[in-house]
Amino acid sequence: MSSNPKVAATPLVMRTTAWKDYALLDSGHGRKLERYGPYQVVRPEPQCLWAPRLAESVWAKADAVFDPTDEDEAGRWRFSKPTKETWPLGWRDVKFHGRFTAFRHLAFFPEQAANWTWLDERVRQRVAKGGEPPKILNLFGYTGVASLVCAAAGAAVTHVDASKKAIGWARDNAALSGLSEAPIRWICEDARKYVQREVRRGTKYDGIILDPPKYGRGPTGEVWRLFEDLPELLGLCCELLSENAEFLILNAYAERISGLSLAGLMADQMQGRGGTIDWGELALMEDSETRGVGLSFFARWAAQNP
Ligand SMILES: C[S@@+](CC[C@H](N)C(=O)[O-])C[C@H]1O[C@@H](n2cnc3c(N)ncnc32)[C@H](O)[C@@H]1O
Repeated sequence: MSSNPKVAATPLVMRTTAWKDYALLDSGHGRKLERYGPYQVVRPEPQCLWAPRLAESVWAKADAVFDPTDEDEAGRWRFSKPTKETWPLGWRDVKFHGRFTAFRHLAFFPEQAANWTWLDERVRQRVAKGGEPPKILNLFGYTGVASLVCAAAGAAVTHVDASKKAIGWARDNAALSGLSEAPIRWICEDARKYVQREVRRGTKYDGIILDPPKYGRGPTGEVWRLFEDLPELLGLCCELLSENAEFLILNAYAERISGLSLAGLMADQMQGRGGTIDWGELALMEDSETRGVGLSFFARWAAQNP
C-alpha cells in the first residue's frame, strides 16, 4: 500500500486569462465586464469592491446586463442590442454555445478554463503512453465542456447530469466540436445514485471530475445538499478510481467552503493512495493580469506530478 497523499502546504491560484472568445475586461463597484465572443456583458460580482479602470461610457456600451432579483442566482437580462439566442464559442479544439441563461451565467464557466488546461495536458500525456483510452467520469457535468476537452484529448468519457436540458446542450456542444462520434456516454441521472451503482458493478475510472452545486435535485426529485452529501459521494468516487488512476478533481462554488477544507476531506478519503493533493481557488484575471476575481474552490488529487 502506498503512503497517504501529500497535501500541498500552500494554496494554488489557478488563473484564467483572456483567450480568443473570452475576456474579463474590467471589474469593480460590484460588477464584472466580460466579453463572450462578439458580446460584452455586465454581471453582478459583489466581491469586486474596488473601482473599475475603464470609463463608465465603456461599460454603458455592453450588449447585455444581468439585473439580479434576489441574493441567489436569479434575475433577468436587459439587452441594449439584438442578440442571438445561442452563438458559437471555442476553447482550443472544443466548441460550445454561449447562451444568456436565467441564472446569470452564459452556459459555461470561463474560470474552469484553468482546469481544462490541466485536464487536456494530463489526458494527452496518459494517451501518449499507449494502451486503452483513459476512462474519465464527469459528475454534475452541465453543458459538458470538461467532458469534451477530455474526449478531444483521447479519453473515453462518462458525463452525468440530472438535467435533461443540460445534457441536450452538452450533446449540441459535442456536435459543434465534431465529437458526436467520440466515446462519450451521456447519462441523465442523479450523481449519487449513478456512483452507487457503479461501485456495486465494480466499474473503475482513471480520472474523476466533480463540480457539485450547493443544492440540486436528481431527475426524480433526489435531493443533493453539498454539506450533508459530499463526504459520502467523494468516498464512493475514491472507490471508483482504478489502480492506475491519474486524478480526482473536486470543485465547489459554495460559500462557507474553502480549498483547504476540500483538501482536508479529500486527504481523509484518499488514505493510502499516495500522490499529491493541490488545493486553492480558480480565478479570472483581467487583461492587465494584475487584478482578478476568485470564483470557486478546488482540491485536486494527482497520482504523480507530470
Ligand atoms: C455548477 S453546475 C456544474 C458546472 C459544470 N461542471 C461546468 O463546468 O460547466 C451544476 C450541475 O449539477 C447538476 N445537478 C444538480 N443536482 C444534481 C444531481 N443530484 N445529480 C446530478 N447532477 C445534478 C445541474 O443540473 C447542473 O448542470
